[in-house]
Amino acid sequence: MSGDDGALTFRTTPEAYDSHVGRYGADLARELIGLATVAAGDRALDVGCGTGLLTAELAAVLGASNVAAIDPSAPFAASCQARVAGADVRVGRAEDLPFDDEIFDAVFSQLALNFMSDPVAGVTEMRRVARPGGMIAACVWDYAGEMALLRTFWDAARTVDPASVVLDEGVTMPHCTPAELSALWTGAGLHDVEVAVLMPSVSYSSFDSLWQPFLAGVAPSGAYAAGLDEGNRAALRDEFFRQLGSPHGSLVLTARAWAVVGRR
Ligand SMILES: C[S@@+](CC[C@H](N)C(=O)[O-])C[C@H]1O[C@@H](n2cnc3c(N)ncnc32)[C@H](O)[C@@H]1O
Repeated sequence: MSGDDGALTFRTTPEAYDSHVGRYGADLARELIGLATVAAGDRALDVGCGTGLLTAELAAVLGASNVAAIDPSAPFAASCQARVAGADVRVGRAEDLPFDDEIFDAVFSQLALNFMSDPVAGVTEMRRVARPGGMIAACVWDYAGEMALLRTFWDAARTVDPASVVLDEGVTMPHCTPAELSALWTGAGLHDVEVAVLMPSVSYSSFDSLWQPFLAGVAPSGAYAAGLDEGNRAALRDEFFRQLGSPHGSLVLTARAWAVVGRR
């Protein structure tokens, strides 16, 4: 990602995000918070908060007034503010956090590291605003492996359009392996670094309820699907359906994310 590219596919409506990958967000957030040992009264920051799925889970544990959140997408930040009225929600980037040094007990980032223009600068900023001994935790999808929704989508795209390999998030996304995450955290000077696996799942009422959100253009997968002409989109839909096992009726998909935690 370069420049502001990482935020570009998140200028859609918040509703589009929430009905797409956002469906995994609350469960994922609870798993991530569980790794980071926060306690009532702690202050926490959510970096790349999107529509506020993690922010809301943090507020449920810590109280909204103890939670701050930031995202470069103005509509997403507004949605986060509406979801968590008492939180301090800002529009801005991880690489330039508008917060004082050492003011948070814990700093989180869910599914946003790989969209940052400069993840090293982003983690350096997350470390700066955490108090000494404070926890810095993040997670990213296992795009190349067991994030079933997106992995199957890109496998289907590559079957009908081999040139789409250059857009496949399993190929393009940085910092999405345990080794890369561990190196990023250690390189930022964090201690007690550990990597863990998070496995949220979503129950879909039908294949269509899973497919329709792609057409709103949210995230790189949605931007690709929405940008196809009608014939190519129908071919992709059919192949995606086939690669998911031609499900009739409801289906459950599990998504693996890699998490990393460390202390300042
Ligand atoms: C996949 S969404 C994750 C949103 C939310 N954390 C969640 O779990 O639902 C990625 C988010 O990263 C944000 N983002 C992109 N570039 C960023 C940057 N440089 N700093 C912080 N956030 C960024 C996007 O605007 C988007 O909201």
